[in-house]
Amino acid sequence: MTIKIKTPADIEKMRIAGRLAADALDYIAPQVRVGISTGELDRLCHAYITDNGAIPAPLNYQPPGHSPYPKATCTSINNQVCHGIPDFRRLLKDGDILNIDVTVIKDGWHGDTCRMFYAGTPSVLARRLCETTRECLWLGIRAIRPGAHLGDIGYAIQSHAEAHHYSVVRDFCGHGLGDSFHEPPQVLHYGKPGSGPELKENMVFTIEPMINAGKYQVKILNDGWTAVTRDRSLSAQWEHTVRVTADGYEILTLSTTEIAKGT
Ligand code: MF3
Ligand code: CO
Ligand code: CO
Repeated sequence: MTIKIKTPADIEKMRIAGRLAADALDYIAPQVRVGISTGELDRLCHAYITDNGAIPAPLNYQPPGHSPYPKATCTSINNQVCHGIPDFRRLLKDGDILNIDVTVIKDGWHGDTCRMFYAGTPSVLARRLCETTRECLWLGIRAIRPGAHLGDIGYAIQSHAEAHHYSVVRDFCGHGLGDSFHEPPQVLHYGKPGSGPELKENMVFTIEPMINAGKYQVKILNDGWTAVTRDRSLSAQWEHTVRVTADGYEILTLSTTEIAKGT
């Protein structure tokens, strides 16, 4: 399977979709607090996305071998690695760490991003895991330029995670993104420098490392979606959608506020 090269017109639409996905996270951030349910956070995100003329890509998404995903976003708490299903009965507790993953389809094009949030005050260990995982994402992003290889991204992420005695989840990876939700390439968050496909200008893909405080093995709960750590250790994830530029990278999932700040 070949990796599509996006046109300038495609990229312009992906900038709009990506910014909207990030704006949804900016919008929900102040709502994340002790006592709110993940169902309510999802309901608010869903409304924000549709109010802005977009579709939440996860809703009814059904990859082969899966049941249709029932909600607009993924909300993964503590030992949940990814694809946690929002639930009106699950109220956030003091110290919970929460990933909210938003993917929108706007004008036929996708934007996909996630961040970690804290309910109340996280433990020192939990905070360190979340911050190190964010650093892993950024180190992966900084490895992007034409002529680099996907393995350079994985290597940068894995080296940093393992230096902190954390592990990199193997069962999920980043992915190409465009007018489809998941397309080639698979972006592994571990690997060897110089391995894998070579990056070319105007490839667009996500980087979304899932880093566990314990071992990397995961299992899927009976809901058919929620991935949790086998050893019940905490897990964190951060995600951006990125484009390979002539000399580096462009992040397509910065929010309006982040763009204004020039970050
Ligand atoms: N947004 C997730 C990703 O980063 C995918 C969620 S698929 C779902 O690839 F069906 F679980 F929502
Ligand atoms: Co993704
Ligand atoms: Co995502």
